Amino acid sequence: MKRAQRPIAFTLNGKRVSLRVHPMTRLLDVLREECGLTGTKEGCGEGECGACTVLVDGQAVNSCLVPVAQVAGAKVVTIEGLKGRHPLQRAFAEHGGAQCGICTPGMIMAAAALGPRPTLGQVRTGLAGNICRCTGYEGIYRAIKKAESRSKKPEARRQETAPTIAPSKARTPNPESRIPKAGTQRAR
Ligand code: FES
Ligand code: FES
Repeated sequence: MKRAQRPIAFTLNGKRVSLRVHPMTRLLDVLREECGLTGTKEGCGEGECGACTVLVDGQAVNSCLVPVAQVAGAKVVTIEGLKGRHPLQRAFAEHGGAQCGICTPGMIMAAAALGPRPTLGQVRTGLAGNICRCTGYEGIYRAIKKAESRSKKPEARRQETAPTIAPSKARTPNPESRIPKAGTQRAR
């Protein structure tokens, strides 16, 4: 039997989209299969690895755990929304933050959700739900710190490259939200 579909509208990387999908379809599947945005990866598919991290209203979430109905009316940003020009993307390439690259989009999106100039402790905490099997993490932390120090005006740069991210909201997730935040499903 075909599952009932409904139109669900949200903003994706700055553009309004409306899709007819079953409301319980995973946001990850909608992004990859309906929207063709395959930069968001699937690792575990159960909220353990962070490979599927995207931003929803500025908050990092595991898109494998989010039914698309929960993002109706929200602003969703994927790795494609950073357009390859975000300081984090260059820093990951230059400072050993990526090897096989499977975890990298999720790592970058989790880092993008941190406010400007995060401390090393904030970086570690913000990425606690993102698993990397290749880099040993030091290259990733170094890349994030380098990206922030290279950016003279982090707020302005972030706005320019990812207009739908709200840095001030990124560190103050709505406690009422039913969307599971990336990093809250597991303790490392
Ligand atoms: S695919 Fe691993 S947390 Fe979503
Ligand atoms: S670079 Fe391979 S899993 Fe992180």
